[in-house]
Amino acid sequence: MSFADFDLPREKVFRDPIHHSIVVDNQIILDLINTPEFQRLRRVKQLGTTSLTFHGAEHSRFGHCLGVYEIARRMCDLFARNYPQSFDASQRPVIICAALLHDLGHGPFSHTFEHIFHTDHEAITQRLITDPDTNVNQILRQVSESFPSQVASVIDHTYPHKQVVQMISSQVDADRMDYLQRDAYYTGTNYGKFDLDRVLRSMVPTKDGIVFRITGMHAVEDYILSRMQMYLQIYFHPVSRSMEVALECLLKRAKWLYQHPAATAGSFKPTLLVPFFDHQFTLDDYLMLDDGVFMTYFNQWKHSPDKILSDLAHRFVDRQPFKSATYNSHTKKFLPKLRQIIAQAGYNNEFYTGTNDSFKQPYDTYNPHDSKPASQIELLQQNGDLVELSRVSTLVAAVTNRAEGDQRFFFPREMLTDTSAAGAD
Ligand code: NI
Repeated sequence: MSFADFDLPREKVFRDPIHHSIVVDNQIILDLINTPEFQRLRRVKQLGTTSLTFHGAEHSRFGHCLGVYEIARRMCDLFARNYPQSFDASQRPVIICAALLHDLGHGPFSHTFEHIFHTDHEAITQRLITDPDTNVNQILRQVSESFPSQVASVIDHTYPHKQVVQMISSQVDADRMDYLQRDAYYTGTNYGKFDLDRVLRSMVPTKDGIVFRITGMHAVEDYILSRMQMYLQIYFHPVSRSMEVALECLLKRAKWLYQHPAATAGSFKPTLLVPFFDHQFTLDDYLMLDDGVFMTYFNQWKHSPDKILSDLAHRFVDRQPFKSATYNSHTKKFLPKLRQIIAQAGYNNEFYTGTNDSFKQPYDTYNPHDSKPASQIELLQQNGDLVELSRVSTLVAAVTNRAEGDQRFFFPREMLTDTSAAGAD
């Protein structure tokens, strides 16, 4: 069977606040959306602790994945219509399936969870697509035996067709273009807005990837600046990062209690998390986790006899962020002293302090010496020659190859407000 054999007699539409309509015209796509693996993404927030700073940001990974699919689908249609010589339309099925499934392996509060439990959402995405026992795999295999591994290889960048990989993952790809707009909308901010339609219509598929028509340069500039502003104003917000540190401390304490059964007379065994504490989990164990499971445990832990666990659970559930201070390579030497003062005030450093570095380069030019060289953005001039974006855009040149962001040290806010906690009577 070929993918086209599954085309629906009539299109189905998912209403979406960002793209208006998300159009599904093939049964395979519809069946993938209806799998338990994909439906789980409804229960995983896209931005984790950011919703504790921007209360509108309750949107899920489900909506984002549909949005990336929709952008990839539009790219395919534009390319097939306008550039039939340089776009191979037979790649469309693998492109739209990879777009839809690219974040399938994300867990609840992914970043923190992976740090504590040493899981890897990219590896899990690969397994969910290639393991013959998943629903997703069985649906993809209807197209061909090798189709699941082709889809997985687009997502892990090993697919031989560079143009296809760049549509899903590059400096201007369907993934970023969806999350910037979606996260801007749900946080209630304007920073992430740019002219998506203009950017899409400026894209030109070539043998080696994607370039942009020079007439679309200002739309691409706007996209890059939007992305920089989203990082600095939303993704790097100190309060969200503080709540992430609180979550990390909480999960660290839970793991410690499990690994030291004497501390609780062996009574601390949160069933759904045990496989992760033991670092031995199955895909089924993983698929059972979502934001709701975590919040249920955290609510229970607020009443734990372990004072540290109950206090940290209270701080996270009831949104009591840690305070933070920025530091740099010169002031880093004061951190041990700060930790000492905090310990003297009665706080166990391991569970009551943390650091977070958040830096991003708004735009990278190609550096072949990087471990993962970024694909630079190239513009197609009227005479047919290519020119790298920062050579013609003074706006982009100003932010090129510059890391923006900061490093912070987090500590209990009582250190600043409660003098007795600081040991001053
Ligand atoms: Ni994504």
